[in-house]
Amino acid sequence: MAKIIVTDRNGNEKHILADENSTLMEIIRDAGLDIEAACGGCCACATCHVYVDLEWIDKLNKMDDDEESMLDQAFSVKKNSRLSCQINFTKKIDGIRLVLAPE
Ligand code: FES
Repeated sequence: MAKIIVTDRNGNEKHILADENSTLMEIIRDAGLDIEAACGGCCACATCHVYVDLEWIDKLNKMDDDEESMLDQAFSVKKNSRLSCQINFTKKIDGIRLVLAPE
């Protein structure tokens, strides 16, 4: 099984085993980490905001216009910001490292 590595808002690193065919948001939420994901993954809330480790950012699918405009309205946006509900987990990103953005 593949995994993702997530640093929570207390600085704790969690290794989460995950199946493909889920989004990163679903994997983080289902592991019980503190991610609000208020819209349930419809790209309408930005509460699934994460920072993607720079080593991994270019391996992800490109941001579409909807994600870009949601992030425009989010707080604490950095160049490696993404909405985790808009990223499908695949083997290609097995081992990806993410940090939960502040609420
Ligand atoms: S869960 Fe709402 S934008 Fe990702």
